[in-house]
Amino acid sequence: MLKLDTLISNVDRLLTLDPIQGGSDLGVLEDAAVGIVGEKVAWIGPTAQAPGAATIIEARGLLATPGLVDCHTHAVWAGSRASEWRRRLSGVPYAEILEQGGGILSTVAATRAASDEELLAGCVARLRAAASRGITTVEIKSGYGLDPAQERRCLRIARRAGEIVGVRVFTTFLGAHTIPPELRHDREAYVQQVIQEQLPAVLDVADFADVFIDRGAFTLDEGERILRAAQEAGLGVRVHAEQLSATGAASLAARLGALSADHLERLPPHAASELARAGTVAVLLPGACLYLNDPSPPVQALRDAEVPMAVATDLNPGSSPTGDLWACATLACVLMGLTIEEALVGITRNAGRALGRSDLGILRVGGPADLALYAPPPGDPVHEDALVQRLEGHRATLTLCEGRVLYGATDYSPT
Ligand code: NIG
Ligand code: FE
Repeated sequence: MLKLDTLISNVDRLLTLDPIQGGSDLGVLEDAAVGIVGEKVAWIGPTAQAPGAATIIEARGLLATPGLVDCHTHAVWAGSRASEWRRRLSGVPYAEILEQGGGILSTVAATRAASDEELLAGCVARLRAAASRGITTVEIKSGYGLDPAQERRCLRIARRAGEIVGVRVFTTFLGAHTIPPELRHDREAYVQQVIQEQLPAVLDVADFADVFIDRGAFTLDEGERILRAAQEAGLGVRVHAEQLSATGAASLAARLGALSADHLERLPPHAASELARAGTVAVLLPGACLYLNDPSPPVQALRDAEVPMAVATDLNPGSSPTGDLWACATLACVLMGLTIEEALVGITRNAGRALGRSDLGILRVGGPADLALYAPPPGDPVHEDALVQRLEGHRATLTLCEGRVLYGATDYSPT
C-alpha cells in the first residue's frame, strides 16, 4: 500500500490543468486530494479514497492550482524608473526615451554600478513575492549588463536567488536587449561582441537566449545571426517579437523553431499560422500593453491558428513594473479578450511549455509536487472565476515547490 509523505486533503476545488484527469481544459476535481512522496506527486483522487500519509494538510475551503509559471521576467536589475514613468505620462513615448539614452539604458547604468549583494537582494525579494503568489517557476532574463562580465554576473545572480528562495529558475541570456552607450555608434561591433564574447561567457549559466528585435534595439538580420549562434552553442531560443513595431521577428521565431515568441502586440495576423506550425508558444504580456498603452496582440488569429498562448508578467522596472501574475491573468482577459480558461492555462501549463517543460504548470502523478492553495476573496465562492475576476493582489495560503514549503503555513484556517 502506497504510503505518502504528505496528503493535501479535502481540496474544495482542485485545478489539475490536466484535461484527462478532470472536467474542462482546467482538469477540475472537486473534494479532491493530492498525495506527495519526496519531490513528486504520487497520488491524485477523491479524498475519501486517499492513502495514508505522514503529514496531512487540510485544504477545506481552498482552491488548488499547480505552481504557477511566470515564463518571462527581467527580474535582475537595480535602480528605479519611476521618474521616467512621469515623463511617459506626460506623453513622451517609451521608444523615444530609449533612443535618447534612457529607458532600458538607465537601468543598465544602475545595474552595472550595483554591487552583487544589492542585485541579489533585489532579485531575492522579487522571487519571494512570486512565491507568495503561488508562483513556483520563474524565467529570468539578463539584459541590463550588456558586456560579457556583467551579463554573466546577472545570470549567476538569478540562479543564486532561485537557490536562496527555492523557486525553480530558468535563465535567459538577453545580451541583445539594446546597444550599450559605449558602442552606440558601432552596432556591428556590439553584435560581434554578443556572439563572440558574451555568448561563450554565459553558456554555463544560461538555459536560453533571447533577442529584442525592434525599433531602438536589434534588426531582424542582427537578431537572426545572434539567435543562430546561440542555437549552435546549444541554447534554446525565444524572441521579443513585434512589440513596438512589426519587424518579421515572429516569422523568424517560427523559422528557428523558437520555444516562444513574446509580446506580439503588432503581429501580422497571417504570421500566427507560422507560429502554430513551428509549435512556438505565444507569450502574451498584458502588463506591458497596459503601461505602454499598446494594442492587444491579435488573439483571435492566434486562437484560430491554435497557437498555444502563455501569459507572463514581463516583470521589469520600466515597461511592466509588476510581478503579479494573477493580475496579468485578469488583464489578459480584460485587455486582450482571453477566456478565463485561456488565462489560467496561460499562467500554468502553456507557460511551462514555453520553457520546454510539459511537466510544469500541471498536476499529475509522477510530476513535480508544485502546488498552490488559495482562499477565496471574502464573500466569493471557492472558484477560479473569482480569483481571475478580482485585481486584489492574491496571495497563496500555501505554496509548495517539489514538495517543500516555499510560502505560507500548512495549518491555514479561515479567520
Ligand atoms: O519586455 N521589450 C524590451 N524589454 C523589456 C523592457 C525592459 C525595460 O523597459 O527595462 C520588455 O518590455
Ligand atoms: Fe520582456
